[in-house]
Amino acid sequence: MKFFPTEKPLHGQLDIPGDKSISHRAVMFGSLANGTTEITHFLPGADCLSTINCFRKMGIDIETDPDHPDHVLVHGKGLHGLCAPDTVLDCGNSGTTTRLISGILAGQDFPCTLTGDASIQKRPMNRIIEPLTRMGACITSERDNGCAPLQIIGQPLHGITYHSPVASAQVKSCILLAGLYADSDTRVIEPSLSRNHTELMLRHFGASITSKGTEAAIQPGAELHAASVKVPGDISSAAYFLAAACMIPGSEILLRHVGTNPTRDGILRVIQDMGGTVTYRKLSASGGESTADLEVRYTPLHGTVIEGDLIPTLIDELPIIAVLAATAEGQTIIRNAEELKVKESNRLDIIVDNLTRMGADITGTDDGMIIQGGKPLHGAVIDSHLDHRIAMSFAIASLVAEGETDIENAECVNISYPGFYKDLKALL
Ligand code: S3P
Repeated sequence: MKFFPTEKPLHGQLDIPGDKSISHRAVMFGSLANGTTEITHFLPGADCLSTINCFRKMGIDIETDPDHPDHVLVHGKGLHGLCAPDTVLDCGNSGTTTRLISGILAGQDFPCTLTGDASIQKRPMNRIIEPLTRMGACITSERDNGCAPLQIIGQPLHGITYHSPVASAQVKSCILLAGLYADSDTRVIEPSLSRNHTELMLRHFGASITSKGTEAAIQPGAELHAASVKVPGDISSAAYFLAAACMIPGSEILLRHVGTNPTRDGILRVIQDMGGTVTYRKLSASGGESTADLEVRYTPLHGTVIEGDLIPTLIDELPIIAVLAATAEGQTIIRNAEELKVKESNRLDIIVDNLTRMGADITGTDDGMIIQGGKPLHGAVIDSHLDHRIAMSFAIASLVAEGETDIENAECVNISYPGFYKDLKALL
């Protein structure tokens, strides 16, 4: 798909589609709850549809409406109401589906195989195989390479205390969900706090779950009750427009109803550190998740350092933050971001490669990158590696690059933001 520099600033207002992490969890927890869960502002992206399909295959009736794809009804059957699927569960491109469902499957009384696309079959699953095995689960990598396909034979589980070596909400959530089926309490302690949507939503559904600092603990036994879930706009999707408005002189936009959970808001803190301003309007909260309308205006930005506990709060935004840093004045250093190597693609290498193709001064390091901002960007052929966040980040970069940018497999944005190009056009 071809992109050209914009002659106009960004102007207008946008409703940001539902949060991907929260949409997945609403379907999963709704399936395990007693009663009907109504989800509004659900994200009908390919990843969340994979989650719906997996639970349908396990006997859950999930109503969707093609005319209102953001409205979903999940007729849950309780913690022990899933049934054995008659085929392999296909998680598509979705790490959240694969890892969270594995935790649930570990405690069922049936066997099951999980797989996904070529990217999923390369992503590390030992990070869940190891703690689940400690809980007594029977989970193996079919090719013995630590990746999907995964075979899981449901077993009685034991509670554990797990010191996770990575700050990963997918790992944490997988273990906590298995903890629902264990014979005693399960605790997960992370090196830095990752997104806490599982803790907040499980509490909303009636689970006995507590969290303090970087530790979360779940007590088994409590049944989950259906609840209504109003999904906030995804700050990871809003990030592309926030960055574009900060990069293009004269821009002024309002992004409505965006999730501002502090475990996800690192990009807002980075924009502020770089000299930008994002104003919060209409603050509200539902199910423990805070939201706001975000108003952002162009201001010239400067470089910054992004590291440590901040990293998990903006891990999915690092591709667009790198683009933003390339257009800001001065140096930006990103450290402690080695997790970027094991996302939908090796985002660390791919950001460096693609920004270099566009003329940026960027050097990859073992755990991040160093960007000398302010060098003019030019159009290039960009390989998205079928990674939605790479495609969207470079579509934004193209708006300030001289000449034509050609993004290969640009339609992969459907994973998290099917209307992305239309919404971008509406603001230009
Ligand atoms: C997610 C957690 C993060 C994030 C992913 C969604 C989730 O992954 O990158 O896009 O919904 O829990 P990790 O937990 O692997 O960091």
